[in-house]
Amino acid sequence: MSVNTIALNSRMSHFDDHASVWLFGYGSIIFKADFPYLERRPAQITGWTRRFWQGSHDHRGTAQAPGRVVTLVAQADAVCAGMAYLITPEVFAHLDHREKNGYLRVVTPIDFNDGQRAEGLIYIAADDNEAFAGPASEQEIALQIARAVGPSGPNSEYLLKLAQALRELGADDPHVFTIERHLLPLLPPPAQMTHATPSSVHPN
Ligand code: SIN
Repeated sequence: MSVNTIALNSRMSHFDDHASVWLFGYGSIIFKADFPYLERRPAQITGWTRRFWQGSHDHRGTAQAPGRVVTLVAQADAVCAGMAYLITPEVFAHLDHREKNGYLRVVTPIDFNDGQRAEGLIYIAADDNEAFAGPASEQEIALQIARAVGPSGPNSEYLLKLAQALRELGADDPHVFTIERHLLPLLPPPAQMTHATPSSVHPN
């Protein structure tokens, strides 16, 4: 499969007759909503687990030194917390471009925190896309993230913002938080200070 998924995604017609569609974000879409939306609600999906297994050559790394970003991996009974956005179908042109490095639109039920459910879309980078980086230990992933920088900024920023957004959602994600723990000591002091707990920050 080609790494650029724009053409494949533009052929997806599932919600063509809908005035609005729910989009579930589980990675940068949680903390970087650079698109218009009608409504935004914390939500979760079942049967998928978040993993830093997708290579990033276009946003958080380069072809020479790819970064790592999240995708979803099927896992029975796993629950993935994130943010759902109600968008109009025109917004998909922007999203397809943003998620073009291997991500395909997939239809999924979305469970909102108030118990309601709706059918919506997620962007998933499956293991057959060319940019798929695959499993590695959390320590190895942290090392790769610490070194990678791309047009959207340092890879470490992606991880730290995601971890912070998950904390704000009250979501536990041991994979993300373990990578964060390995990553923080690898970063220059200002990043460590920003994310240090108040009791570990000395007044001078
Ligand atoms: C998402 O956030 O839902 C997809 C992955 C990403 O763009 O980080």
